[in-house]
Amino acid sequence: MPEKVQKGSKIYRRLLAYIRPYMSRIVLAALCMLGYAATLAMASALPYLTISGFSNKKEVVFSSQQIPHLPFTFDFRFPVFWIPIFIFGVILFRSFFDYISRYAMASVGIRAVKKIREDLYAHLVYLSNDFYSRGRTGDFLSRITNDVTSIQGAVTDVLTDLVKQPLTILCLIPSVFIWGGPGGIFALMVFPIVAIPIALLGRMLRKITRKMQERSADITAFIAETLMGIHIVKAFNREESVIQKFNQINKSVFDFFKRSIKVTIIQRPLIDVMAAGGAALAIWFTMESFTAERFSSFVMSLFLLYEPLKKLSKVNSTIQQSIAAGARIFEILDEVPSVHESGTAFEFQEKVNSVVFEKVGFAYERAITVLDDISLDVNAGEVVAIVGSSGAGKTTLVNLLLRFYDPTAGGVKINGYDIRAMTLKSLRGLIGIVSQETVLFNGTVRENIAYGDPAADLERVIAAAEAAHAQHFIRDLPRGYDSPLGERGLKLSGGQRQRIAIARALLKDPPILVLDEATSHLDTESEREVQKALENLMKGRTVFVIAHRLSTVQRADRIIVLDHGKIIQQGTNESLLQQGGTYKKLYDLQFNI
Ligand SMILES: Nc1ncnc2c1ncn2[C@@H]1O[C@H](COP(=O)(O)OP(=O)(O)OP(=O)(O)O)[C@@H](O)[C@H]1O
Ligand SMILES: [Mg+2]
Repeated sequence: MPEKVQKGSKIYRRLLAYIRPYMSRIVLAALCMLGYAATLAMASALPYLTISGFSNKKEVVFSSQQIPHLPFTFDFRFPVFWIPIFIFGVILFRSFFDYISRYAMASVGIRAVKKIREDLYAHLVYLSNDFYSRGRTGDFLSRITNDVTSIQGAVTDVLTDLVKQPLTILCLIPSVFIWGGPGGIFALMVFPIVAIPIALLGRMLRKITRKMQERSADITAFIAETLMGIHIVKAFNREESVIQKFNQINKSVFDFFKRSIKVTIIQRPLIDVMAAGGAALAIWFTMESFTAERFSSFVMSLFLLYEPLKKLSKVNSTIQQSIAAGARIFEILDEVPSVHESGTAFEFQEKVNSVVFEKVGFAYERAITVLDDISLDVNAGEVVAIVGSSGAGKTTLVNLLLRFYDPTAGGVKINGYDIRAMTLKSLRGLIGIVSQETVLFNGTVRENIAYGDPAADLERVIAAAEAAHAQHFIRDLPRGYDSPLGERGLKLSGGQRQRIAIARALLKDPPILVLDEATSHLDTESEREVQKALENLMKGRTVFVIAHRLSTVQRADRIIVLDHGKIIQQGTNESLLQQGGTYKKLYDLQFNI
């Protein structure tokens, strides 16, 4: 996948767009954060009140005499028993505000993540085949699981801290000046100075995180590939080498992890030292005017002031990590499906009369022509067989009919309409396909056969299975049509899988049928039987059948011989045998004449 470097702030703004629908919760959370910050600022008065109370014969004195730099006069006096009530009240309110704000933000966070994951999956499902040929399934898996999860922190914690910590700092600034007087300014000087190393470390962290996420995706991809092909790994005695390769990739994730930890954990002590410097300066310049009460409350307010600063620096780390994850997510979301519906696409509802390939050319990669000037005029009800050597372009040809790809030259037309003018749904609704690679899903036999129409009743499922000569082995399964097939249908034999796939295509009852090596895994006898059944089913349908075994295509109305992406011969079995050439050669080879 091409790496597009996007600006961090832009990525973050796009992430934030996902929380916009929950503004009311966010406002509620922000108000509670303000309450939290205010109660925290009040807590800085505790040392003052306590010392004052116990040194003044159990009476707390809080007056402008004690704090002469304030521009107004006041004189509060109350007995010490208010102190524990004050402590309890402060903690109670602080906890209440903390709970509500965290809960509101967390609920926004998980909703945003849910939506991002839904969008990403839906987008992946609609992306075209060429995208999947370029990327690795494991990498997409990693993005939709790991990367989306790591964004959750960004949305919840970061937003919380981005609002809460500045509010806390703002509320504490008056406390610093109340207790410390004008000297408190030294304490605030720390802020701009601390910002510089934090920004630099943040940039480093984003780079490291991006690489780490890529390597994590490599891990997922490697696991997926090797476990799906585990029997090949074993058959070729590659267990040790795959373990070694895995450990190698895992180690590089570990190395990046180590580096990111170094960068992350240096921040806290760095800020601690700078904050201590600021505090020391502030105390140094204000010491003369202090009483014990004021001094202790001043120190407490400084402690409380620097805590949010540390949290903010941690937020920066999380932001950088989520930007790196966000970039990987938006890379996919920005990918435009190469096969897409035009805005004016219409729903094709007619009876199929003709399928025409008009001067079709195609290349998967620009320079390598796979199909060249293919013209083919097929009438409804015709059975067209496509033969040719491996790699000739047979599968590619039918891929174009289903719009898995669009031709690079010419076009495919049904009833005279270019298939690019139809909705994808109505086009694909016309076609039943048994593809060269049998793909089944985890689920029961019944669910797999009824994949195209989950509402189909059992009778239709059984009828399709009978037509595909699958009813015998299905009945022998322990739970018949309700037997689970296991991941990718692995609990069945290759030929059984293929018959389920044929039944699946037949249940759809489509006007156009594409059979790409649909019976290649069957023994000769089963093949003959399925073939016979298919012949019945082919009646009234337009069929494209691809097969290497010529016995399966002999009875086709027309046989097309493809070679290097060109049609080199076409006709019936008899006429082609008379003509001689490639078809006759293939025929003679197969039938040993
Ligand atoms: N996704 C792809 N990306 C790039 N090239 C591809 C892709 N799929 C197929 N090709 C190439 O296109 C050519 C035609 O492939 P195609 O699958 O149509 O052959 P085929 O006639 O169906 O062969 P077979 O009989 O082996 O199934 C081959 O040279 C193949 O390497
Ligand atoms: Mg093929």
